[in-house]
Amino acid sequence: MRTIQIPTERKGHLAYYQDKAEIDQAIQRVLDHGHYVMGPEVPAFEAEFAAYCDAAYSVAVTSGTTSLHIALLALELGPDDEVLTVAGGDLAPSLAVLHTGAQLTWVDICEETLNMDPASLRDTLSAKTRAVIAVDMYGAPADMDALRDALDGRDDITLIEDFSLAVGATYRGKKAGSLADIGCTSLAAGKVLGVLGSGGALTTHHEHLYRRINEVRHYGRAESPYWHDDPLPPVKEPDGMVIKGLNERMDSIQAAVARVKLRHLERDLGIRRAIAAVYDEYLKAAPCRAQRVLDQAVSSYRSYVILVEPQIRDQFVQKMAEAGIRVGLQYIPPDHLHPYFLERGCQPGMLPVIEKVADALACLPIEPTMSVEDVHYVAETARKLLFDLSG
Ligand SMILES: Cc1ncc(COP(=O)(O)O)c(C=O)c1O
Repeated sequence: MRTIQIPTERKGHLAYYQDKAEIDQAIQRVLDHGHYVMGPEVPAFEAEFAAYCDAAYSVAVTSGTTSLHIALLALELGPDDEVLTVAGGDLAPSLAVLHTGAQLTWVDICEETLNMDPASLRDTLSAKTRAVIAVDMYGAPADMDALRDALDGRDDITLIEDFSLAVGATYRGKKAGSLADIGCTSLAAGKVLGVLGSGGALTTHHEHLYRRINEVRHYGRAESPYWHDDPLPPVKEPDGMVIKGLNERMDSIQAAVARVKLRHLERDLGIRRAIAAVYDEYLKAAPCRAQRVLDQAVSSYRSYVILVEPQIRDQFVQKMAEAGIRVGLQYIPPDHLHPYFLERGCQPGMLPVIEKVADALACLPIEPTMSVEDVHYVAETARKLLFDLSG
């Protein structure tokens, strides 16, 4: 049987073959020079990634979850502080808040864009709010200007953009990762920009935040040394610990892979957008609606999300699977409906919009490695099933 794209298994495996020769060469270079920790590929990737994201600085780390944790540690938040985020953009933002000890509060999303709802943000803000993590859901940038406006000029609040799904997306002509005070992203295999394993990065325009982030990443010491300079080993030990830090530096091998993938990112984004246009066309009259991307934004299309009638959703997923097509149910259930939070007092009904969306959502396969034939097969099969099931 024909099988189209397996989003949850062997992530990034097919993507490796797209650029195999360059990736193999880049890895070999690291194996040969031997600076596996903070080798030259790390600062090179950071500089190239910052430039790509239109940010002044970038810091490469071990995962997207870690990037969020580091951002919050850099702000030195504690139990008297509150962080707001959405409950359906992966568990990582919520986990990062829990690990700082700050109070976690969720903001509901907008039913059309699936992004943080500025009105809900305004209603949820409190005197204790110190940070807001807005996730660019499914690759479509959040309405960052409206979210900033909702903060009512509160300069004690740091706006963080989780652009794990939206590397390369744009909002008012600016790149995701440059839209807030700090950008945090996953670079895990399977993401729009994915290494061969786990990785992540932070971006910022602010030098003081960059310094803090850099310190947190490297044991809280005042300098993250790049250990490739001659003479080796480093003649000077890095400066002393100044902040509660972690050891979360990106490996040189993953940085080398990330540099190759970054060089081909625009090609991959072009293919994703072309696939999305095919799905738009096939499904425009079908009984479903696609996530609305803001007029002033361009999505990276990490996922192509449709919302269907809740009563047919599970059948749709099942019938697509029978046709060899794996439909994703990304980020279901919403965070507050996971056992951990239910045991701590959360209940269905707390966040009505995201709960409604969770019952209706289905993510169609969208990967640069899909053939044109596969794309049309997915689109045609989805359209036919949606009509049949909605009959
Ligand atoms: C929006 C979002 N944030 C954070 C993460 C966590 O990234 P990682 O898996 O690299 O820790 C993910 C991963 O899927 C994500 O989708």
